Amino acid sequence: MQNEITITRPDDFHLHLRDGEIMKFILAHTAKVFARAIVMPNLKPPVVSLKNVLEYKERIIKNIPPNCDFEPLMTIYLTENHTPDDIEEFAKSGIVKALKLYPNSATTNSQHGISDFDKIIPVLETMAKFKIPLLIHGESVESNIDVFDREKRFIDNILNKKLMKIDNLKIVLEHITTKEAVNFVLENDIAATITPQHLLMNRNAIFDGGINPHNYCLPVLKREIHRKALLEAIKNPCKKFFLGTDSAPHPKNAKESSCGCAGIYSAFAALQLYAEAFEEAGALDNFENFCSKNGADYYGLPHNKKTVTLIRENWTAPSEFKVNSDVSIIPIRAQKEIKWRIK
Ligand code: DOR
Ligand code: ZN
Repeated sequence: MQNEITITRPDDFHLHLRDGEIMKFILAHTAKVFARAIVMPNLKPPVVSLKNVLEYKERIIKNIPPNCDFEPLMTIYLTENHTPDDIEEFAKSGIVKALKLYPNSATTNSQHGISDFDKIIPVLETMAKFKIPLLIHGESVESNIDVFDREKRFIDNILNKKLMKIDNLKIVLEHITTKEAVNFVLENDIAATITPQHLLMNRNAIFDGGINPHNYCLPVLKREIHRKALLEAIKNPCKKFFLGTDSAPHPKNAKESSCGCAGIYSAFAALQLYAEAFEEAGALDNFENFCSKNGADYYGLPHNKKTVTLIRENWTAPSEFKVNSDVSIIPIRAQKEIKWRIK
């Protein structure tokens, strides 16, 4: 049994850093382990312009704890109002690493997202021209679609029929959750991120002993056969799958509400949780590629120089993180055991 794992410092290719006090608090967790992160733009209001993204990046950089080298990789929230000229501006800026596509009203702060996918074709063609990746929240949201089928329906109806028709568009299907998504990624020229929660939990976790709002995220956790398909995917030596935590903190009262919001906070122990999943999958030999190489290669970034070491040692995740006297965040695995620790 392996008791110590040393890998090149990893990157998180899907992270919600939020803003203000919460950002300041959680950024320390990510920056302690991860060298870079693709930062999601679904703020309120969303990050839609070069001005927004420059200002947001500056706020992040100001809050990086001293002695941490951490680089935020910035994204823009794609709307139906963007034009091909905007895309050219983003691409030439050097600061915008990707655009994020939210189907309208699919998830937290997605009400500025896309309803008419035909409308954005010229913008996507310009993205292809400038080789700027499109990061997709892949869920169809029509009210007649079962919530557990949303990813599959998006793949069939939008991704395959519309988005894949654009030549040379770089696509990352974010936080994949189903065997259909794994197969689609393997069969097509696209990449995907996978979260720790979708590797470690199935949908029973939402209802374990009662309703568990802290295990609710979008795309929602799926059946065990889909979790197993994800565990198979991370074993695959192809370079298409990489680390993206989708760590998405919300204040405790917003989760524990009559209409609790989606998002699981994992950044405080993300790498340790991935190690558990890789061990379960028998895939530890692919751990470094997934965490530290595949994503960097996809985005054309150099591999990080330093290393990080995990040791096998049980510890108990905190019951909550107190951001201030009013706001606390309940993390994934709260008050439960985590099997690996950062050395
Ligand atoms: O669970 C989620 N939370 N899924 C998303 O797509 C968004 C995220 C958030 O921003 O809270
Ligand atoms: Zn997300």
